[in-house]
Parts: sequence; structure tokens; C-alpha cells
Amino acid sequence: MDEVYSMHPPSYSCRGIGPKTELEANVSDSLTIDLADGVAVLTLNRPDKRNAVDGPLIAAIEDFFTAPPEDARAVVLTGAGDHFCAGLDIAELKVMGAAEAQATSRAWHRTTEKIQFGALPVVAAMTGMVLGGGLEIAASTHVRVAEPSTFYQLPEVGLGIFPGGGASARISRIVGAGRAVEMMLTARRVAAEEGQTLGLSHHLVGDGEALDKAMELATRIAANPPFANATIINAVPRIADMSIADGLFAESMATALTQVSDEAQARIKGFLDKQAKK
Ligand code: COA
Repeated sequence: MDEVYSMHPPSYSCRGIGPKTELEANVSDSLTIDLADGVAVLTLNRPDKRNAVDGPLIAAIEDFFTAPPEDARAVVLTGAGDHFCAGLDIAELKVMGAAEAQATSRAWHRTTEKIQFGALPVVAAMTGMVLGGGLEIAASTHVRVAEPSTFYQLPEVGLGIFPGGGASARISRIVGAGRAVEMMLTARRVAAEEGQTLGLSHHLVGDGEALDKAMELATRIAANPPFANATIINAVPRIADMSIADGLFAESMATALTQVSDEAQARIKGFLDKQAKK
């Protein structure tokens, strides 16, 4: 399956960072990227298919997170139209054997790993349906914003399949394994308010406000030192999987490394100089 995905152009276009490059000629329109003031806005752009994610789209997302633009310091991930994402493109399922299906699952794992454990904090702006793979992608982001229209669902069981984009590992860590099993077995719609209670969203805002809120949060996060941001998103989920003793040791190392960084030293000095002048 790696070969299948590598047949697609391994590139993305990014509006707002200079002249159109040769690579952009090959780009898939299903992922648009806009960069301004350190925030890259990635938009899943297949609204007529409810932003269902096919091979080229998952490859484009992976490409972005493999080599994000140098100027990007935070990311907002959203969907075009009224919905965030209806999950894996079902049209691709029928042509797959078991080996290819497993490779597709691994491609999703690679991509969602790069979202969760990359260098850039990612804020999801979610409207309408957040289904199946859409929820798996959202679960790999770091801050999630929802609107009243947002609902969550793991409907794969209706097709007789087990979610393969990280649901059992990631969504179960957010909502608890028991709740993840319940959501998978019943395939029920979880409404925005329940999703907020379960931690599927961190902010529940009004109709039409998710993108603005996500931009506000991403802009604030982008002002943090990049190494501190990268350490938070990479260290916390790993430490949560450790014993307390191991986690506390890992935490002390993360603290030490951030504290001796040039950016932290400059900020600490700036604070102390300001205090001294009072
Ligand atoms: N994969 C591929 N195409 C999808 C899709 C998916 N996951 N979800 C929606 N689409 C397509 C539909 O086939 C339709 O395409 P068409 O206009 O060419 O016929 C288009 O998106 C709109 O879907 P439609 O069903 O008409 O819209 P709706 O708003 O009434 O319902 C859903 C949307 C998402 C509830 C319904 O399409 C659905 O159940 N999709 C499957 C969701 C799913 O099981 N996801 C997990 C995949 S493992």
C-alpha cells in the first residue's frame, strides 16, 4: 500500500508563502493550505463527499506534517462546507484485500502519528459530522473546538469493519475504553454537548464560531516558543502512558531541556529585567 500512496503526488500547495512552485502543479485540490501569521490552516476540501478521506488526501495530510512550512508555528485543521469529515472514503474499500486494508490502516496511523507527535500544535475546528476516520483524525489533534451542529460517530460496525485509523488506541484514551466500545458497538450519534463532556471537544462555541475560536487559540499557541510547544505535545501523552515514577523522571528531563533553551532563557531574563525596573 505504501507504493499505492506513493503513486500520488507527494506534495501540498501552500497559499501565502511565496510564488507557485513546480510541485504545486501536481497538487491535489482535496487539501487546501493557507499560511498567515504563523498559523497554517489546513482544510479538508471534498465537501461534495462530506470531506471523506481518500488515498491522495491522507497522503497530502501526511506530506504536510512530514515537512511543514518553516514559518508555521501552529495549525488549524478544518473541513470545507458544513461538515468536518465523514471518515475514510468507502469507495476505496471494495478494491482492497486484507494486506492492502492493513497497509491503509498503517498509512492512517503514520499520518495521525505525525499530527499528534509532530512539532506543531494542531487545533481542530469541527462542524457537523465528525465520523469514523474524521473522528480518528480529530482525536490526533491537540485542541478541539466544536459547534452545536457537531456530532461524533463511529459507524464502521455497520459495514462490518473495525475502525483502523487509531480509534481503539486514541479515542479510547480520550473517552475511556468502555465508552469507545459502546460508541463502536452502537454506532450512535454523540451530540456536541455530550462530546464536550467526554472530552471529544475542549471548547463548545456558538453556531459558525468554531473556526474563529480555533484561529484565536492557534494564534495564542503560535506565540509560545516552538520548543516548548513541541515538548508539551510530545511529552504529555507519552508520560501519561508511563508509571508515575518513570513519568516524573521523564517530566524532569522535559523541564530541564526547555529551561536551558535560548528562548526560555531570553523570556526568563526579560521577566526578571522587567521586575527589577519596578
Ligand atoms: N466515503 C465515501 N463517500 C462518502 C462518504 C464516505 N465515508 N460519506 C459520504 N460520502 C458521499 C456520498 O456517497 C455522497 O456522494 P454522491 O453525492 O456522489 O452520491 C455524498 O458524500 C453525500 O452523501 P449523502 O449520503 O448524500 O449525504 P448525507 O448528508 O445525507 O449523509 C452521511 C452523509 C455521512 C451520514 C452518509 O453519507 C454516510 O453514512 N456516509 C458513510 C459514513 C461512514 O460510514 N464513515 C465511516 C467510513 S469507514
